[in-house]
Amino acid sequence: MDFRHLVSSPDALSKVTADALLLVVQGPLADGILEAPLASLLAEAVSAGDFEFKPGRSLYVHRPVGMKVPRLLVVGAAAGGLKPFKAALATGLGQLKSSGAKHIAVAVADSAELTSLHAQAFAAAAADAVYLYCRTKPSAPSAPAVSRFTLICGKAQSRDIAAGLQRGAAIAAGVTLARDLGNCPGNVCTPTFLAEQAKRMVKSHGLKVEVLDRKAVEKLGMGAFLAVAQGSNEPLRFIVARYEGAAKSQPPVVLVGKGITFDTGGISIKPSAEMDEMKFDMGGAASVLGTLCALAEIKPKINVIGIIPTCDNMPSGKAVKPGDVVTSLSGQTIEILNTDAEGRLILCDALTYAERFKPAVVVDIATLTGACVIALGHHRSGLFTSDDALAAELLNAGDAVLDPCWRMPLDDEYGEGLKSSFADVGNVGPRAGGSITAAMFLKRFTGKYRWAHLDIAGTAWKSGAAKGGTGRPVALLTHFVLSQVK
Ligand code: BES
Ligand code: MN
Ligand code: ZN
Repeated sequence: MDFRHLVSSPDALSKVTADALLLVVQGPLADGILEAPLASLLAEAVSAGDFEFKPGRSLYVHRPVGMKVPRLLVVGAAAGGLKPFKAALATGLGQLKSSGAKHIAVAVADSAELTSLHAQAFAAAAADAVYLYCRTKPSAPSAPAVSRFTLICGKAQSRDIAAGLQRGAAIAAGVTLARDLGNCPGNVCTPTFLAEQAKRMVKSHGLKVEVLDRKAVEKLGMGAFLAVAQGSNEPLRFIVARYEGAAKSQPPVVLVGKGITFDTGGISIKPSAEMDEMKFDMGGAASVLGTLCALAEIKPKINVIGIIPTCDNMPSGKAVKPGDVVTSLSGQTIEILNTDAEGRLILCDALTYAERFKPAVVVDIATLTGACVIALGHHRSGLFTSDDALAAELLNAGDAVLDPCWRMPLDDEYGEGLKSSFADVGNVGPRAGGSITAAMFLKRFTGKYRWAHLDIAGTAWKSGAAKGGTGRPVALLTHFVLSQVK
């Protein structure tokens, strides 16, 4: 996809050449902002009842008189802020993607307000509008009809907009990678497949990638990860991918992603309804690879290590059973009371493994609990950390790129339910507050560094008619990493 910017003023839109012009208007415009043909066109449409300056309203004009573009779409947006701007773009681009346009130009009536974050929101909205899944669907078009997007801005904004578009395009590529991996079915996207994807990024993105197999993981002593993987015929993988943008001596940001390529629940098997969606249980892993992809394009001066424990969670004669006790890499023993609480088991060993990198900070990302979906729904990811400064950094990063999260509590009392009569810790607590107990379990393995956990169970994919991976929280993570550059 090609993102560019064009310096032009709102009163010169008649001269813009593109296949379509999308004009975002935030309210009735003062005289003289738009030139005569466009201004009178809008005024007439309003008085005829065909358009209102309101969010969600739009007006399509074919071959608008006095303009060079063959298609004009005017969309209303609520005033102020990034969110209504992106919502208006989503409405407009959603309509125009099925027109004949290959090149869409976008203008804002009040272009003085545009910042680099608007440019990033524009790239995100455009990439989202034209996203296609085709890997296992030959009947779907393999390339989007729209291939070029131009954002029109004033001269004063030009540098910011150019920088924002570049960053936005890189993040969009990472989001698209994460969506594709998530959407890939469980029989294609296996642990081996994820490792192959990571290895490909050595050539394509200059990452360093190391992949451990079962033998290596056994030698290290990752008893919790091994217990989850043992029920499946698909071999496990432990992926370590590095982006090196700074001196080796600089402590890295470590991102740990849950990579369950299918979660049946194991012996504590899940009900059948919607179980297909458990192919998305590697959304954390996908977001780590997507973020590394974005960073490799942006090239910030920082070191980032992605760690991905990946396996299937299956019932079988070899599967781990409720009540089994395993020894984690940390030495703590775990009573596996529910084999469906597998994410925390593969993550705890990865979190202990992360210690060896002496990280500046560790963030894990996981589709960890249904309870998080009950708590926060599908809009904000759950954020868990005892570090107030780190919480603020992650919350700010999410807000800036409209990939928001919300902080949840981590009081010690929430850990009491994890007590076990037969091991140092059980892997489940009571149903109430389930996303917090899960985070409290992980916290036991993170004493040696700054740590935060993102529960993306509600945000990594959409159900229903528009079922599919969202690529979240690649934008949040990329922005967070960029905020950590010294
Ligand atoms: N991958 C699931 C979490 C999940 C469930 C995400 C539904 C999105 C939608 C996770 O492995 C799981 O099964 N968690 C259990 C934990 C429970 C057994 C303590 C859950 O949330 O039910
Ligand atoms: Mn599970
Ligand atoms: Zn799971």
